[in-house]
Amino acid sequence: MAQGTFKSSIGTFAAVAGSVVGLGNIWRFPYLAGENGGFAFLIVYLFVSLLVSLPVMLSEFSIGRSQRCNAMRSFKQISGGPWFLTGMLGVATAYVIDSFYMVVGGWSLEFLRKSVMNEFSGISPERMTEEFNAYIADGTGPVIWALVSLVLATTIIILGVSKGIEKMNKIMMPTLVLILVILVINSIFFLPNSQAGIDFLLHPDFSKITFKTLLAAVGQSFFSLSLGMGAMLTYASYIQEKEHLPSTALRVMIFDSSIALLSGLAIFPAVFSFGIDPSSGPHLLFLTMPNIFQQIIGGQFLSIIFFLFVFLAAITSQVSLLEVVTAFVSEELKIKRWKAAIWLLLTMGITGSMCALSQSDMDIFVFNGHSLFDIFDYVSSNYMLPIGGLLIVIFAGRIMPERILQSQLTNGNEKNTLGYTVIKFLIRYVSPIFISLMFLDLIGLIK
Ligand code: PHE
Repeated sequence: MAQGTFKSSIGTFAAVAGSVVGLGNIWRFPYLAGENGGFAFLIVYLFVSLLVSLPVMLSEFSIGRSQRCNAMRSFKQISGGPWFLTGMLGVATAYVIDSFYMVVGGWSLEFLRKSVMNEFSGISPERMTEEFNAYIADGTGPVIWALVSLVLATTIIILGVSKGIEKMNKIMMPTLVLILVILVINSIFFLPNSQAGIDFLLHPDFSKITFKTLLAAVGQSFFSLSLGMGAMLTYASYIQEKEHLPSTALRVMIFDSSIALLSGLAIFPAVFSFGIDPSSGPHLLFLTMPNIFQQIIGGQFLSIIFFLFVFLAAITSQVSLLEVVTAFVSEELKIKRWKAAIWLLLTMGITGSMCALSQSDMDIFVFNGHSLFDIFDYVSSNYMLPIGGLLIVIFAGRIMPERILQSQLTNGNEKNTLGYTVIKFLIRYVSPIFISLMFLDLIGLIK
């Protein structure tokens, strides 16, 4: 075995949870739910997570743990054909995602700074929105903080993947859940006019489910679970043989969805209470939260803790994105990890800054009215991850020898258990057919 492994089951869960729980849950899920009809989105989201994403996760786990190397080489080792390109696509996707991810990580750092300086105190919701818009429009702050976020992630990468993160996540995840629970209770019971927000998130209006909802839900599910680009594949290469992969995957998925739901429940009552537009897009979290902290007892303290944890959740995910690219560059170009990491720091620093500036009023890096930030966000989740996911399930279900899949998913059990039969069916049929139909619809071949 060429590399170390996660020490324990809890360690594995904590590390994988560190990758999956991030801005996807706290920032992206609420804003997409806001744009796609609230409850309808939630239902579709859970449905596709189980039927489409879980099989992708198990495929990535099986490929990664059986090969124990970077994504591209894993494909190469199993099959000689062009499948290694799936790994390359994953590397490109990780690069694209990290370029806008670091920008949002940067926003949370700025909000952490503002919380520490008590700068939100006594500001009306309208003024809050104006200030945030002005901050984004100026561009300087967002670029600087995005770079700080990237430098921190790079430092963690250089110091090594399994040790520090494993330890930090064991403390961080439970604390994050605790804060979210406090915020949910506050939002539901103590904010005026919170009922409208609860209704929005928990009362079905199935007429809202359109093709667009489906596409956004699949993209969000892949994004939130770090699927379709080899991040889980790379992490799985550090998982010990004795771990039961299906239970790990299921636990991760339940945990990830719970965090997203908690974030939604904390945010939407407040959105309606403070008269914020639920479809405000990527800025929703940042426009909403400071208002809550104004109203709650111990608001400044909670605000500091909240944005600190948003940032920590973001940084552990950013590390997993960077890990995919760093492992690839260092193993393929045969250069030391730290050199690969520095190299990426320089290039990603540039693309990340471009994303940050694309939202400013300098009007650069805007194409057809869409900022580079929005384009990267949309294209990576709605195209790159699902295409990657599709290739990965096809590979695991049809190209890779079945004995690898079976032994990985059953820990060497020769018998065809019911669980394995169901998973195999999902991997071979349900997930790939669903994603394919989605693309056929997207390009207008079916209606
Ligand atoms: N899953 C992470 C989040 O929810 C983002 C991510 C996507 C990380 C893809 C790695 C790979 O924030």
